Amino acid sequence: MIRAHGGKLVHRIAEEKERESLVRLVDSLPRLPLNERETADIEMIAIGAMSPLEGFMNREDYVSVLDLKRLAKGLPWTIPVVLSAKEGDGGEFREGEKIALVGGEGEVLGVLDLEEKFAVDKEQEAEKVLLTTDESHPGVQYLKTIGAVYLGGPITLIQRPKHRRFENFRLDPRETRVLFKAKGWSTIVAFQTRNPIHRAHEYLQKCALEVVDGLLVHPLVGQTRGEDIPADIRMECYRVLFENYYPRTRTALSIFPAAMRYAGPREAIFHALVRKNYGCSHMIVGRDHAGVGNFYGPFDAHYIFGEFDRYEIDITPMFFDNSFFCRTCGNMASSKTCPHGSADHVALSGTKVREMLARGEMPPPEFTRPEVAEILMDFYRKRNKEQNG
Ligand code: ADX
Repeated sequence: MIRAHGGKLVHRIAEEKERESLVRLVDSLPRLPLNERETADIEMIAIGAMSPLEGFMNREDYVSVLDLKRLAKGLPWTIPVVLSAKEGDGGEFREGEKIALVGGEGEVLGVLDLEEKFAVDKEQEAEKVLLTTDESHPGVQYLKTIGAVYLGGPITLIQRPKHRRFENFRLDPRETRVLFKAKGWSTIVAFQTRNPIHRAHEYLQKCALEVVDGLLVHPLVGQTRGEDIPADIRMECYRVLFENYYPRTRTALSIFPAAMRYAGPREAIFHALVRKNYGCSHMIVGRDHAGVGNFYGPFDAHYIFGEFDRYEIDITPMFFDNSFFCRTCGNMASSKTCPHGSADHVALSGTKVREMLARGEMPPPEFTRPEVAEILMDFYRKRNKEQNG
């Protein structure tokens, strides 16, 4: 099976004696509340999904990631994974001490061994990572909410953030690796998504599955922006698709607990490296992967892979052109395989679909499976009712 990024799957969850002594210690430690993204990150680090990271980035890694898309030691890495403190808080923490990291319900999730505290220029981070400082970009908006002092150092998880959802679909990298082995798959393609799966998505997945052993549908369920469909509704959509259209022996559904960064091309590399840690040998990268609005070119997330040697990334990206149903071809196709013009194509913008669903209008079956459309129409009906009192 494919090796973790950097060669070793990280494990930063305290067990038995270590856990007992940390639990005894935490009451005496200074505390830092984590926001939703940081809470997701600490868990992702602890379970090895972000291998080789063992904690939040120190300055050297952070600067190197921003400037070179690599960790300080040279390994490809494109997204800063950082812990922020407001200026005031940052001043209270001393390098060399332990800090208790606190979840949304006041519970101590883990401990940071603070190695380094450093001030950052968030505008520069936005420019380099998101390629914009435009305030309509959700990643820029996020940066505005956090402090400009970052705290770097290894973490140890004492307990998982309290999840009340998707318990049967939560598999850590160690567990997906066991699952793939049990299924007898040696090549596995991952599908990252933050949306309901429509026919175009299904087409990419099934094209990819034609050439590998198994498909892991790996929907991101961490923080997304308000306009995206909530994860529990999406999970219902995935479930009906799996029940009705996906072969059980060749497909698996498991959640990806990360927060969405909307960093387009840089996030595509990040998504690929992380899916390698989950044991996947391939990952689908389609049109405007991890993009938002018009901030990135539709295929920038393909081009960025050309900046690295194949062996450095190791997981194989499977690039797909814009996909749709073509009435003249009479099947799903892409700009690569269909000779007809857009007038023949059934392609609906996200906004158009949302409007149709909100009106209770079923989008055509060439665009989305009716079972999925039913769930989405129901969601919009309820939401409209709530909004209109
Ligand atoms: S993402 O933010 O998770 O990338 P989304 O869930 O919309 O967003 O997309 C999941 C994957 O499908 C991405 O790789 C994206 O590029 C790809 N994709 C979505 N729609 C299409 C389409 N019509 N044609 C080709 N690729 C697509």
